[in-house]
Amino acid sequence: MIDPEWWRTAVVYQCYPRSFADGDGDGVGDLAGLRSRIPHLARLGVDAVWVNPWYPSPQHDAGYDVADFRDIDPAYGTLADADALVAELHAAGIRLLLDLVPNHVSHEHPWFRAALAGDPAMRARFHFRPGRGASGELPPNDWTSLFGGPAWTRTTGADGVPGEWYLHLFAPEQPDLAWDHPAVGDEFDDVLRFWFDRGVDGFRVDVAHGLVKADGLPDAGGTTALSEPHPAFDQDGVHAVYRRWRRIADEYAAPRVFVAEAWVPSNERLAHYVREDELHTAFQFDLLLAPFRADVLREVIDDARAALAGTGSPTTWVLSNHDVVRHVTRYGRAQPERSFADGIMERQRRGEPVDLEVGRRRARAAALLTLALPGTTYVYQGDELGLPEVEDIPDDRRLDPRFHNSGGADVGRDGCRVPLPWQGEEPPYGFGPGAAAATWLPQPKGWGPLTVAAQEHDDASTLTLYRRAIALRRQWWVDAPDLAWVPAPEGVLAFRRGDLACWLNTSGASVALPGPVLLHSAADAGEALPPDTAAWVRLPDTEDRSGRSS
Ligand code: GLC
Repeated sequence: MIDPEWWRTAVVYQCYPRSFADGDGDGVGDLAGLRSRIPHLARLGVDAVWVNPWYPSPQHDAGYDVADFRDIDPAYGTLADADALVAELHAAGIRLLLDLVPNHVSHEHPWFRAALAGDPAMRARFHFRPGRGASGELPPNDWTSLFGGPAWTRTTGADGVPGEWYLHLFAPEQPDLAWDHPAVGDEFDDVLRFWFDRGVDGFRVDVAHGLVKADGLPDAGGTTALSEPHPAFDQDGVHAVYRRWRRIADEYAAPRVFVAEAWVPSNERLAHYVREDELHTAFQFDLLLAPFRADVLREVIDDARAALAGTGSPTTWVLSNHDVVRHVTRYGRAQPERSFADGIMERQRRGEPVDLEVGRRRARAAALLTLALPGTTYVYQGDELGLPEVEDIPDDRRLDPRFHNSGGADVGRDGCRVPLPWQGEEPPYGFGPGAAAATWLPQPKGWGPLTVAAQEHDDASTLTLYRRAIALRRQWWVDAPDLAWVPAPEGVLAFRRGDLACWLNTSGASVALPGPVLLHSAADAGEALPPDTAAWVRLPDTEDRSGRSS
């Protein structure tokens, strides 16, 4: 019997298919590899998997440049493999979410090829505009690409004469779709049904805040989309799209659900995406941007919960993903006062000292925090192994367009996308079968102790901690009463849910815990809470059980 509300409390594992597991030994992860590792997911105890884009793609942005929304990239497998994956995951009690990329397509998508060849009906599905300046030599407006440089590229006609420009908020190989054209909406309705009909349980919506642009594409005047209103992002018109998608999802008997990737200036704006007739959930990125500081974490949690309170949507916690520096490394650096956002995901801080041991202690503590909070939690592949960011990938092996388009100023996202280590002492750490080829991004030396095989039977390992925590979460937290803060020493975050409490220590001193420890982030901590650790505690019977906030 399927619980129609499973997505409200789910632990979802983010699988980056290129780097999860390689079934055919070519050094690139694929669906055969993913299928062979379902036991790892089942053992971890996750409720669902979100798979990053697996569609045919020239891979200018690791699959976020989609050439065909209804097929699988041959490097990953076939539609038959996808069907088999759905069936096998479901048999293991795990749901499958795909990644929908509605803001843009690949420049090799048939629509854009036809548009470039001059077909006016196809050009109308993109944002083609004449340039400014005497001979159209300047871009139509001042928008910049999130990967650096202008968000416009000028086209050249068959006669060699420069023509109009087209809009791309990301790489030039990712032309933006014009969502005011009816064919675009119809196409995505059909794409949703294509995958829902195959049994897929939902979608993560890429750049959910970007689809609809302000009328007339006005200049942005130097605003940065992350913290201020911007004419390319978070326009009110986008919500009509999500109301339409929700109606399609609701046509299915078993739940079909969405999670939005929406980088918007406030949680009040984020709440619009998860109104009752829109998307089910939206990632809460404030936690991912927050330093390891109790006061900031508490504010972030309160703000997120308050903003969503009226929507009925659960908060959706996430510590890392394929776009940001892994949190073992983030937490291992000097912590900013308020937010990592200024350094846009910390990449400009490459070369700053990092203490991975501290980072990993904090990462383990943060895992217990997110797994105890009300709502749903995403685990990015490798979080469960305590993987750090790989910071020493040679420049000539880097593939992220962010690195190349910024002339190397932004080191890019390759360091969090390195193939997973499964077993052994040397690369490729069992990533592929037998004498597999070198992995598509190089793995570092020294990851032997981080492999799944090395951690699996180690009582003190991060993998063991995750397995225990996810199992106990289901038993203890999922049905627990709502959160209430409890008084705690400076630098300590503490909340209770009924007679269970979660304590997290970001201070420099060890503190006493209020009851017997049920699970500790530090294997050797006993009944105290040392710096950089967290614990789940059973409160003594004498405690106030009302769940009142203190
Ligand atoms: C999202 C994805 C990112 C991608 C971008 C463009 O932010 O998470 O990886 O590069 O959209 O599709």
